[in-house]
Amino acid sequence: MRRLLPSPAEKVDLEAEYCVADAVPWHLRVSFVSSADGAMTVNGRAGELGNDGDRRVFGLLRDLSDVILVGAGTARIERYRAQRPTGERLDRRRRHGLPDAPVMALVSKRLDFDLDGGLFDPRAPRSIVITSDSSPADRRSALERVADVLVVGGESVDLSAAVAALRDRGFRRAHCEGGPHLFATALKAGIVDELCLTLSPMLTGPGAGRIVAGPELPIRAEMSLRHVLEEDGYLFLRYDLRQEPAAS
Ligand SMILES: NC(=O)c1ccc[n+]([C@@H]2O[C@H](COP(=O)([O-])OP(=O)(O)OC[C@H]3O[C@@H](n4cnc5c(N)ncnc54)[C@H](OP(=O)(O)O)[C@@H]3O)[C@@H](O)[C@H]2O)c1
Repeated sequence: MRRLLPSPAEKVDLEAEYCVADAVPWHLRVSFVSSADGAMTVNGRAGELGNDGDRRVFGLLRDLSDVILVGAGTARIERYRAQRPTGERLDRRRRHGLPDAPVMALVSKRLDFDLDGGLFDPRAPRSIVITSDSSPADRRSALERVADVLVVGGESVDLSAAVAALRDRGFRRAHCEGGPHLFATALKAGIVDELCLTLSPMLTGPGAGRIVAGPELPIRAEMSLRHVLEEDGYLFLRYDLRQEPAAS
């Protein structure tokens, strides 16, 4: 992979390109892959949009985080599992002073999860389910047997309160892996510090949604471009966000 901006380089140290300074107490990074015409899925999933480079960057962003924040829609469709890194991935985490595995934090109102599935693997760190008062009480108590359940918000999850709760638990580096509805809520709450976007050299045509979805929101997020990396025509864009929470 090479760097095009800010200073061109034929080879880059990916960890150095994506690390966050130790002095930063909390950082919430969001990552997505999109086609050149703005689609965030092909055949309903993100996988076909990425290449090896995208998978390397995605793996690295996971490895540099202690909590993975993800919407229930993405977790269900992309068949998420709790993480148990091994080998080089584990070594990398230890080198960066991170716990051996990131904790999965799932945002959901309906709480429609398979309690025996990989998200609640007893061999991995206990997942966190972040939900709101309006979620079904019976599902909440069933989940409490296999996960830590955080209730923040009335009708839907209050993501600012969720972030405060994660920080209280000692997490410092969050990697939000979408999806588009969760990203919209996070933007509205003004809690996003960074967006890492892989731009895939594909045109996939109409149909698929964009990386932000949901009801129209007064989202205002200005971004400054920190770097552009390139491999096989794929662009890896790292943006810092400057955000004001939107008026509701
Ligand atoms: N291109 C990419 O990089 C990328 C990345 C991620 C996902 N995706 C794609 O995105 C699609 C899924 O999209 P999506 O928008 O449905 O995903 P999503 O944002 O992950 O999931 C939406 C669901 O998350 C929960 N949720 C989100 N915000 C909430 C809030 N404030 N309060 C309570 N619950 C909240 C709700 O779950 P409940 O329904 O359980 O209440 C909601 O239905 C998939 O096709 C996936 O492949 C693409």
